[in-house]
Amino acid sequence: MVDRRFHLGWFVHFGAQSWNEPLGSAPEPWDGNLHLDLARAMERACFDYMLIEDTLSIPSVYGGSNAFYLKHGIMAPKHDPAPLAAILGHQTKHLGIVITLSTTFYPPFMLARLAATLDHLTGGRFGWNIVTSTEDAAARNFGMTEMPPRALRYDMANEYVDLVTKLLGSWDPDAVVRDHATDTYVDASKVHPVHHEGRFYRSEGPLNTVRSPQGRPAFIQAGGSPRGREFAGKHADSIIATTNGIAGMKAYRDDVRAHAERQGRDPDSIKVLFLIAPMIADTMAEARTSYERVLATPHYTERALAAFGSFVDIDLSQFDLDQPLPPLTTNGEQGALDKFTQTGIGQAKHDKTLRQLVRESGTSSSLELVGTPDHVAELMGEAMEAVGGDGYLITHPFGGLTRHYVLGITEGLVPALQRRGLARTAYSTDTLRETLLEF
Ligand SMILES: Cc1cc2nc3c(=O)[nH]c(=O)nc-3n(C[C@H](O)[C@H](O)[C@H](O)COP(=O)(O)O)c2cc1C
Repeated sequence: MVDRRFHLGWFVHFGAQSWNEPLGSAPEPWDGNLHLDLARAMERACFDYMLIEDTLSIPSVYGGSNAFYLKHGIMAPKHDPAPLAAILGHQTKHLGIVITLSTTFYPPFMLARLAATLDHLTGGRFGWNIVTSTEDAAARNFGMTEMPPRALRYDMANEYVDLVTKLLGSWDPDAVVRDHATDTYVDASKVHPVHHEGRFYRSEGPLNTVRSPQGRPAFIQAGGSPRGREFAGKHADSIIATTNGIAGMKAYRDDVRAHAERQGRDPDSIKVLFLIAPMIADTMAEARTSYERVLATPHYTERALAAFGSFVDIDLSQFDLDQPLPPLTTNGEQGALDKFTQTGIGQAKHDKTLRQLVRESGTSSSLELVGTPDHVAELMGEAMEAVGGDGYLITHPFGGLTRHYVLGITEGLVPALQRRGLARTAYSTDTLRETLLEF
């Protein structure tokens, strides 16, 4: 029988973004307990992984100030995800825990050591969401004046990932011998310096901690620009993508798989997960009402423009809401810009106004999924069939995160997928990389 199952991930932030939602205003997320509850729910539903996003500044793009972001709690405040990954990994048994760490701002040795440590604390279920970062405000927090141009960021990231991989591989699998008779903990001949002297980085190595359970963590990536897709096709075990509709999804997946093949990789070893924000309710009418309610949230349009503006580093407050946008380019997230303006690969040109683009951007995501669990499960199955694979990365409409929403998905939508043979009903592997390769 054909295995029609697809992979499921969840995209979360470690901030207070949902504090003023009718069903999400309590309690505060800062002690980690909200995410722990959600991780347990995702694990009951057999998700592959929870991915925690991260950025390193309070945005100040919208209207040229950070005031709007702080007032509404958009993209800030935000905790560091690394300690949370340790807690979540310790308290779960199967769910992959992925955090975002930037190649522009972390020293490679520190990142390799953190990744090895977290892979142990999660029992081999740690993943690294590899980002190069896009915000000039973050660059200014680290003593730079602006972000390097995208091509340079990816040149640096290529060397960075190679170095981190070398450091993680600097301990042979059998280096720890624990021989009581000779009082030998480590066989020093099995721990090797890396002697890396590259264009951007130098590191002597070896890493000063033991080899991690997976050897290296799972690599997750979200390249959107041609250069980013090439990078993702080269390194990623799982790619997360935001695009428009089935045609956009298929074009994106075909493209990154072609990149992978050109690099000599088996494209089936990469799982592409498409960002979706389903709106689920008991009846079709209730789901539609909830969807419209999100769009009617106070300041919805401004909030969406501020959030998108921070991804693409463009002040969207400068444009007329009732006119089409002029052609835009960015040194920020090209993928997010293409999706928002609906001009990505495979998309027809259009003359939608900025207001329409905002309306279509928040809840519909890669696909518009509004309805009962059975209705949405059916649509997700049909779309996956047409795209060819590999799964979905779920997020709350407009980026919020509430127990109520997560349970609707894990206790309503996922069982509907499972009844159709579209989702895992039990874990059969131990590490995140194995889980991703299960089908
Ligand atoms: C689902 C998704 C999640 C992302 N999460 C982050 C993140 O947490 N931090 C970050 O700096 N960039 C994040 N990005 C941006 C990507 O790393 C990348 O910059 C973006 O997709 C644009 O691709 P490009 O760099 O090739 O233009 C995310 C992108 C997507 C699609």
